Parts: sequence; C-alpha cells; structure tokens
Amino acid sequence: MKSLIIYATKYGSAAEVARRIKNQLDGNTELINVMTDPAPTPNHYDTVILGGSIYMGKIQKQLTNYINKNLEELKKKNVGLYICAGHPDKDYVLNEFRNAFPEDLYKHALVKDTLGYVFNFEKLRFFDKLILRAFKGDSVSTSELYDDRIASFSQAFNK
Ligand SMILES: Cc1cc2nc3c(=O)[nH]c(=O)nc-3n(C[C@H](O)[C@H](O)[C@H](O)COP(=O)(O)O)c2cc1C
Repeated sequence: MKSLIIYATKYGSAAEVARRIKNQLDGNTELINVMTDPAPTPNHYDTVILGGSIYMGKIQKQLTNYINKNLEELKKKNVGLYICAGHPDKDYVLNEFRNAFPEDLYKHALVKDTLGYVFNFEKLRFFDKLILRAFKGDSVSTSELYDDRIASFSQAFNK
C-alpha cells in the first residue's frame, strides 16, 4: 500500500498525530506538511490521509486549498480525515469537524476521527495565548493524544 499523509499544524500536535499514524500504516507512507512543503497530487497513492487542527472553528486554509484543488481525485482514493481540536464538548467538535471538510469528502472518507489536542501555554504566541485563555477559562497546559483512536484509525487502512 502506498499512502500519503497531508497535515497542517501551527504548534505541532497534528504533526505528531501524523507521525504516529505513519508508524502504524503498512507499506510506504509519505508525510507532508502542507504549510511548509509542496504537496503532491493524490494520483499515485492508494490511501490519502488529511489532518489539520482547529483554530477559531476552522482548519488551516492551506489544507482547505489542497483539498479543493484535488477534490475529484481524492474521491477516488481511500481517504482518512482527522482533526486536533480542544473544545471540551463532543458535539461541538463533531460540528467543527463536519464544517472543516467538504460534505462529499466527509461522506466518502473511510475513517474520520478527532485524535487529540495540545494546549501548551509556554509555546503559544501572544495573541494565541489571549484567545486560548478566553476560550478555555484558564492558562493550564494540558494535552491528550488518543492513542487508542489513532490505532483504530490506522488499522482501518491495513485491512
Ligand atoms: C488560538 C487558539 C484557538 C483555538 N480555537 C479552537 C476552536 O475554535 N475549537 C477547538 O476545538 N479548538 C481550538 N483550539 C485548540 C487547538 O485546536 C488545539 O490546541 C490543537 O491541538 C492545536 O493543533 P496544532 O498543535 O496542530 O496547531 C484553539 C487553540 C488556540 C491556541
């Protein structure tokens, strides 16, 4: 199996999730940060996994641009979608997830899941710190990357 993981991240959690998925996928997997590197078209891959993180309700525009540009080709592939998102309400996050990807790609995807979040106040830029403090109600650094979900997400492609 030939796989491509395209991710977008600001502080590294979506990248860490991408690395963990890569380690669990059979075959050859290419890992691309769409915010810093040119992303190949999906043509030559069996599986394409797309992951981003949510800021103010949205995923990174570089990932959205890649998806919009390659949507028809992506719909011919085994697709996985994931987000990193820190809102504590499950239904709220599910709604963020649905809004982050085009509806037809969301429906087409073999697997889609929220795979964790990181709040690291020491790393955040000034304005992000202010926004996160208002969003969260405190300045406590916490993180959870869901290894059980990452494992089932990856296994779905190895079947
Ligand atoms: C400025 C800021 C805004 C955020 N906005 C949201 C949001 O609207 N919804 C949400 O679920 N999580 C939100 N988060 C949490 C991030 O999605 C979470 O920290 C994620 O792990 C960041 O991913 P990254 O390390 O790949 O950039 C926000 C975080 C920051 C710092």
